[in-house]
Amino acid sequence: MSWPIGFSDVTGAAERIRPYLSPSPLRSYPTLDDAVGAGIRVLVKHENFLPTGAFKVRNGLSALTALPADALARGVVAASTGNHGQGLAYAGSRLGAAVTICVPVGNNPEKNAAMRALGAAVVEEGRDYDEATEVAARLVRERGFTLVHSTNSPTVVAGAGTLALEVLQAHPGLDAMVIALGGGSQAVGAMTVARELAPRLRVFAVQAAGAAATHDAWHSGVVRTLAKVDTFAEGLATRSVYELTFPALRAGLAGFVTATDAEIADAMRLLLRTTHTLVEGAGAAGLAGLLKLRDTLAGQQVGIVLSGANIDEANLRRVMSREI
Ligand SMILES: Cc1ncc(COP(=O)(O)O)c(C=O)c1O
Repeated sequence: MSWPIGFSDVTGAAERIRPYLSPSPLRSYPTLDDAVGAGIRVLVKHENFLPTGAFKVRNGLSALTALPADALARGVVAASTGNHGQGLAYAGSRLGAAVTICVPVGNNPEKNAAMRALGAAVVEEGRDYDEATEVAARLVRERGFTLVHSTNSPTVVAGAGTLALEVLQAHPGLDAMVIALGGGSQAVGAMTVARELAPRLRVFAVQAAGAAATHDAWHSGVVRTLAKVDTFAEGLATRSVYELTFPALRAGLAGFVTATDAEIADAMRLLLRTTHTLVEGAGAAGLAGLLKLRDTLAGQQVGIVLSGANIDEANLRRVMSREI
């Protein structure tokens, strides 16, 4: 297979986004290491501290800074459950481009409000992310917008790679990363950087058990689109694989696990206790995956990404009262 992006695409994205974003902190917490056990040292990449509270702002800035001026002037559109949309809205506000985001009906209301507050138009239509994608495709035809797909776009994946670039520049001796997977921009970005800077680093992926299409296809080799997904970690709620990332995931991941909503919620509570950091479900999934992989990763230095902080109040209440 040909790898979807090159290392120079990631360094190029890093150059383009540097004027807009400072590197996010990379920290370790002895109490978290103790709780994880097995002699694992956990390096925590705090993407929750970026503007918009998620790594996706890298993706949005990388994509929009690579577009020609006439495309920026016509405006861009994307489907999103919120974090990609907020990233694009932020990038659009910095670069003067009109941004339209298509979200499924009933989408996280706080994410919708955040996108609108950043100046984006939010179109609520479709049952889930994949149906919102069809709405975005229609708006490309009707309005002449440029589509910035949350996964099937090389500049988006390169933007996500910049977070792994920061991790490996700060900590070249890392043994493994455990990465939450929705479409795969983050995991493929990390593998692209690792292939160049740290070929012995192993990248593992974790999906929500209620949205495990990519996990299942990775293990079986058979791609099946799910009729519906069921997880409170909406950043991971995808129904199928994506053509740009799936071949690289199959070729490059060292392993792929799932975490139930209860395990993800446990990881959120553990992060609160040990790091006093609030993350959304997708943002805690990397830690949930690491806990599943504890035996495999015993004694190693492992990076996890707190990929997003944008939990809504209703789900936060359910997590804190242990309903999830
Ligand atoms: C907070 C968060 N973490 C992880 C992911 C999954 O990332 P990717 O689509 O790159 O696999 C998303 C996607 O929206 C997200 O919002």
